[in-house]
Amino acid sequence: MTPEKTIATIEKIKRDHPNNLMARFFDADWFAGLNQNDQQRLKNIINTGIKNPSSQMGAYAMQADDYEHFSHQFDPMIRAFHALPDATPICQTNDWDTARTRCDLAKIDPALSRISMRVRVARNFSIFPLPGAMDKNQRMELEQMMITAFQSLILRPGFGGRYLSLTPGTANTINDEEYSRRVASGQMFKNMSNDRYLRAAGISADWPHGRGMYVSQKEDFIIWVGEEDHLRIMAMHTGSNLNQLFERLHGGLELISNLLPPFAMSSRYGTIASCPTNLGAGMRASLHMKLPKLCAVGPGLEYLTNEAKTLGLAVRGAGGEHSGPGKGGLVDISPSARLGVTQVQIMQKLHDGIAALWALEKGNGN
Ligand code: ARG
Repeated sequence: MTPEKTIATIEKIKRDHPNNLMARFFDADWFAGLNQNDQQRLKNIINTGIKNPSSQMGAYAMQADDYEHFSHQFDPMIRAFHALPDATPICQTNDWDTARTRCDLAKIDPALSRISMRVRVARNFSIFPLPGAMDKNQRMELEQMMITAFQSLILRPGFGGRYLSLTPGTANTINDEEYSRRVASGQMFKNMSNDRYLRAAGISADWPHGRGMYVSQKEDFIIWVGEEDHLRIMAMHTGSNLNQLFERLHGGLELISNLLPPFAMSSRYGTIASCPTNLGAGMRASLHMKLPKLCAVGPGLEYLTNEAKTLGLAVRGAGGEHSGPGKGGLVDISPSARLGVTQVQIMQKLHDGIAALWALEKGNGN
């Protein structure tokens, strides 16, 4: 595609899909002035948003330095998604010290004492390209490097477990039945080649080679290998105590980090992730709860989504991204901003937002 054609295509998306942030902030004059190499690099990054005009973000980075190198394209998208005003510098600081806050949902209402909750961080290594630009050998090398680290992790008290590989024909490969069961339980990731956004970015290429997950014996600590980011490290449990959940994740993250080469990090963008939505703390903290009254108002999840938005929260269906509400109004709630907020602030935001939504659901919030 010639640069003129690319520009015309994106200008049309900008008119027809104003919520596609890549198109909204695409600067045709700037693009036309880039050298050929940079034009090609950027085209690979934004291909997902061109092929999928209904994208919200519409771009996946291919190399860790893409955010810096193409900050003219990325920065306004990042500001829009993470709600960072122009006057606030893009900058990430970290704070995992949960001791100063107590986030227990049962204190809001004893009815919230058995909530399924999960917190995960994205991590990518500087020694590999990001998943959209990896070749099959690199995907397999990444998995081998992780298998070696998992051999040590297995020996750590509380973190012992097992590695389940999706790569065909290895000693750790699981069968289709176990794969489906783990997907249904929400532990394992879905077949990525069914995701058109990931497909257009090359992130699902070579599926299922180099993919798998580590799961602790209690199934409350999980590491995905080779999904949208090199690693997704997560803690999950059913209960009410957010502090405990965050501490579990932090403990595991420290352990595994010490067994591995450095992750790609930036003082401006924080954790480097494939998707600009996951920069910063790189963290998504979510919980599943039933909000039948709020789900019943208006078409789809529109009413709940708008209410949640004013609290800085995003709503997904119970089946994850792009799904509808589950039985009894079961939805997934998580703080949207992940950049410019610390880990502890994310935990607090989830807690406070849930308190507000629960008050609305109970009918005494407005
Ligand atoms: N690429 C998709 C879009 O731009 C999804 C973005 C957020 N989700 C994610 N899994 N990174 O709409």
